[in-house]
Amino acid sequence: MRRRLLVPAGLVVLAVALGVLAFAPGRQHPGPGAGTSLASAVLADTTSSSTSAQLALGKTLFDQTCSSCHGPDAQGSALAPNLHRLGAATVDLWVSSGWMPLANPTSQPIRKPSMFNRQQTIAIAQYVASLGTGGPGIPTVDLKDASVSEGFSIFALNCAPCHTVTGAGDALSNGLTAPPLRGISTVQVAEAVRSGPGNMPRFAAGTISKKQLADLIVYVTRDIAHPDNSGGLGLGGVGPVAEGFIGLFVGVGACVLIGFWIGDRTERDAGEGGHDGEGGHDGEGGNHPEEEEAVEIAHA
Ligand code: HEC
Ligand code: HEC
Repeated sequence: MRRRLLVPAGLVVLAVALGVLAFAPGRQHPGPGAGTSLASAVLADTTSSSTSAQLALGKTLFDQTCSSCHGPDAQGSALAPNLHRLGAATVDLWVSSGWMPLANPTSQPIRKPSMFNRQQTIAIAQYVASLGTGGPGIPTVDLKDASVSEGFSIFALNCAPCHTVTGAGDALSNGLTAPPLRGISTVQVAEAVRSGPGNMPRFAAGTISKKQLADLIVYVTRDIAHPDNSGGLGLGGVGPVAEGFIGLFVGVGACVLIGFWIGDRTERDAGEGGHDGEGGHDGEGGNHPEEEEAVEIAHA
């Protein structure tokens, strides 16, 4: 018996090991500098460098495309919120991701190609920032020596609960959606983390340091931004709930199969034992439980 049980036990270990390998998040692409902790990542604020020509361009574009909802001085209206004190980073994120301008004030902002080129977007952001004070400026991102594997840990802890570990995005409990993080620029990741757009929490430097932000950006833009690199199985990035169910069914399915197999072997053993016993009954007409036991022990 003991020898036979060794086989299924080995199978179980093998199945578990395969499962762990298959569902482990992708850390197999440690990009340049992975593991180096001596990072020289710099995320500097560049709010103050706006020129008057830039502000004039920003004002023109804002008046044309934004003021109808946000008011002529971005002070807000019944249709749209006040933009003072948001900072250039927030405005840059909302415009560069195509969320703004909204087609109509009641539709949920969705990612689409931006209406403006980079220069125009920065001009609008600097103009709006000049109307109020505070808020993060547009960050400059330096990813030299940032670590993808560190970034993975930070992402798994802080971001995966909403965006999923593959960055595919997922429905949140309140009917809103955490968007997929594909095709996001390094600056947009920094801006989203620091400004916390919409229903996303804001992560200040006390929670995610500059160095950690650089690690995070490298993970998001170099690893999960490309679905093939996302690690785990290519389940189509269907989100943690669906992936969990697939894991559950495969795992439980394997256990049930192994269970049936062990059960089958045991039944057959019991059957064999019974035949031996019957032979004893027929031949001698007596009851010899000790004999049956002896047979079982001989098997083992
Ligand atoms: C059709 C109306 C409309 C237009 C046009 C529009 N917005 Fe908005 N904007 C909104 C609404 C409504 C919200 C709130 C959306 C939300 O929170 O989901 C918003 C939110 C924002 C936010 C985020 C505010 C915050 O508190 O986080 C920024 C930044 C912004 N808009 C900038 C702009 C800029 C810049 C333009 C012009 C390029 C623009 N919007 C054009 C309606 C509009
Ligand atoms: C509580 C859920 C939640 C958490 C946690 C969260 N996000 Fe978000 N994230 C959102 C939502 C919701 C949006 C869409 C913003 C909106 O409502 O318009 C978003 C938007 C973004 C965007 C902009 C996407 C685009 O299309 O431009 C980026 C980038 C982003 N998040 C990165 C992160 C990173 C990195 C972290 C971890 C540090 C994180 N998020 C943590 C919910 C979350």
